[in-house]
Amino acid sequence: MNAEWAEAIEAASSALFAGELVAMPTETVYGLAADATNAEAVAAIFAAKQRPEFNPLIVHSGSAEEAGEIAALDEIGERLAAAFWPGPLTLVAPRRSSKIAELATAALSTVAVRVPSHPVARALLAAVPFPLVAPSANRSSHVSATSATHVIADLGDLVSVVLDAGPSPLGLESSIVGLGAEGPVLLRPGAIAREDLERVAGVALRDAVEGTRPDAPGMLRSHYAPVVPLRLGATRAEPGESLLAFGPLPPGAEAAATVVNLSEASDLKVAASRLFAALRELEALGAPIAAMPIPEEGLGLAINDRLRRAAAPKESG
Ligand code: TXA
Ligand code: MG
Repeated sequence: MNAEWAEAIEAASSALFAGELVAMPTETVYGLAADATNAEAVAAIFAAKQRPEFNPLIVHSGSAEEAGEIAALDEIGERLAAAFWPGPLTLVAPRRSSKIAELATAALSTVAVRVPSHPVARALLAAVPFPLVAPSANRSSHVSATSATHVIADLGDLVSVVLDAGPSPLGLESSIVGLGAEGPVLLRPGAIAREDLERVAGVALRDAVEGTRPDAPGMLRSHYAPVVPLRLGATRAEPGESLLAFGPLPPGAEAAATVVNLSEASDLKVAASRLFAALRELEALGAPIAAMPIPEEGLGLAINDRLRRAAAPKESG
């Protein structure tokens, strides 16, 4: 960490101590961070994001040891943590610590924990004595922020310090696995492919039941909706549509008002990292979006999950 970063981390940790909000880069997306033990700071997150309801937040911790003090991980959880932390995995398990603000967990008996791997997130977590809650740093129901510019566009001066570390390396939120007696559940497909999680867990992950609370508050169907219509499985763009492409362009692609290709080489990892920036770019142009099909394998699961949500009709709230 050079002197400039040390100064930025210092400013950010002071803001967190004062109960203010900090935009924190992580390997997945930018997070809107606050002291997880400070109820007022946690409330400020919901106000800034204009979350319609108090969805529970992910508690970010500097170490797996600390995360284990916050949430009671079972054997499968321990295995997943050992394999993927620090990294883009969130585990939901019975809450163990009473230090975390009730609002952070929406008063559930469970808590979501994650140990991020991004060096700036790690430096920030090392600089403060408390864990950090950090939802994605976007306005509620907008796509997640994968750059400091996105954060500022959505949240502006509601954030005291924006730690700008450039584009988010993975670009997709963490995979969320719920632990419990009935076996692990994939609550949100994310930056770790399902098959990699299952290999380590040693069992198949059950699917989350969409729309059931309290399991899936952040899984509202239109959670990631852009403000323009989005059409899935498009093989070509109609005149006036923007084309969100993947792989080689189909014949007639010239008809599109704009073409943004997630990956010319059909690389799912590249596509994942570009997805949210592409949606924001096309949204800003205002034309309806035609999205080409993405294979339902590896990271394609999470990409398609976000695209389906973006295409779903808006729900109130
Ligand atoms: O990659 C990520 O996970 C990013 C970065 C910043 O770490 N964070 C993120 O947070 O995506 P957010 O708040 O946008 O999404 C958190 C998700 C929500 O869908 C929420 O409902 C779910 O985690 N969640 C949190 N606590 C839960 C709990 N106790 N039970 C079930 N779901 C929970
Ligand atoms: Mg979010």
